Amino acid sequence: MNALQLDTVRLSEDRSCLEILDQTLLPNTVRVLCLSGLEEIREAIWSLRVRGAPAIGVCAGYAIALTASRIRTKDKAVFCAEFRKQKLYLATARPTAVNLTWALDRMERVVLANLDRSVDEIKERLFVEAQAIRDEDVAISRAIGEIGFGLLRPGFGILTHCNAGTLATAKYGTATAPVYVALERGWTDLRVYCDETRPLLQGARLTAFELQSAGVDVTLLCDAMASSVMAQGRVDIVFVGCDRVARNGDTANKIGTSAVAILAKHYGIPFYVCAPSSTIDPSLENGEQIPIEERPPEEVTEMWYKERMAPAGVKVYNPAFDVTGCELITGIITEKGLCHAPYGPAFRALGIGAKR
Ligand code: MRU
Repeated sequence: MNALQLDTVRLSEDRSCLEILDQTLLPNTVRVLCLSGLEEIREAIWSLRVRGAPAIGVCAGYAIALTASRIRTKDKAVFCAEFRKQKLYLATARPTAVNLTWALDRMERVVLANLDRSVDEIKERLFVEAQAIRDEDVAISRAIGEIGFGLLRPGFGILTHCNAGTLATAKYGTATAPVYVALERGWTDLRVYCDETRPLLQGARLTAFELQSAGVDVTLLCDAMASSVMAQGRVDIVFVGCDRVARNGDTANKIGTSAVAILAKHYGIPFYVCAPSSTIDPSLENGEQIPIEERPPEEVTEMWYKERMAPAGVKVYNPAFDVTGCELITGIITEKGLCHAPYGPAFRALGIGAKR
């Protein structure tokens, strides 16, 4: 099986549920959940059954189209009020990935732009918009892949952190997309190093799984080993994803990303952030304003272990993301083009950053 053929999230053909590939079970079990209730879909996002900023956005679009389709009223005011309630509830699932609120806001704009139509017509338009978000995501990842591919040379060693792969998007991923493009072009000598990514192991469970299944030469590292492979000259370039980018280019991504960026700077290795323009949040001036999700201590002390691996009662700090300062970033690859510092003007030049 090639993971590129897996759908992270899709609407069932009869539009009765969301089919979500349960990523908490990978790589050992490939199971698709059929979820239709607002609570269970929110839980799937919170538990990282579906995860990765773009995939969360795609999921949110389908989710609200589905749950709004079940609002039983012909009265537009009642429909709008219930839609808004659902939207606000889903938006609380995860705070850092801006694609969640970006997609929900986009869906709400569809409602507001169609108030002259019937409730049934609005419901149809929501399904169309959700599908558009999904289809655009494939095209965006592909475009990022083409631009990132232009930065590669045969034989390169690429390091990535967490999973910004096909499993984190509708297809191709962002940080992995250049590798998939290279593979399509017949390049067989790229080497990818993926950090396991404590504590939820997205690198080990997801990136290693999907790249291996696609036939990529991938080597798994504990997070603490990145410095060593860089010092040995085995890494030529770093590609990572992002959950939210501020106007100045400061970037929130999976916890540990900023350490990789600091190492890359130390060893003189180019460090690129792969960022769909939907992940760039024009409302935030800099990274200090990015909300950082904190997750339960058990993810650090117990998850994946046969028994608890920390003393009972020890304090645990478990932020899910960190912010990499823009000064550590060589370039930000968007689907519209490659940006260099200063990022504010670079984003504006590509038409990214108009207030939403
Ligand atoms: O907590 P996760 O697994 O949702 O975190 C995912 C990441 O940090 C990814 O790098 C990011 O969302 C970009 S995915 C293209």
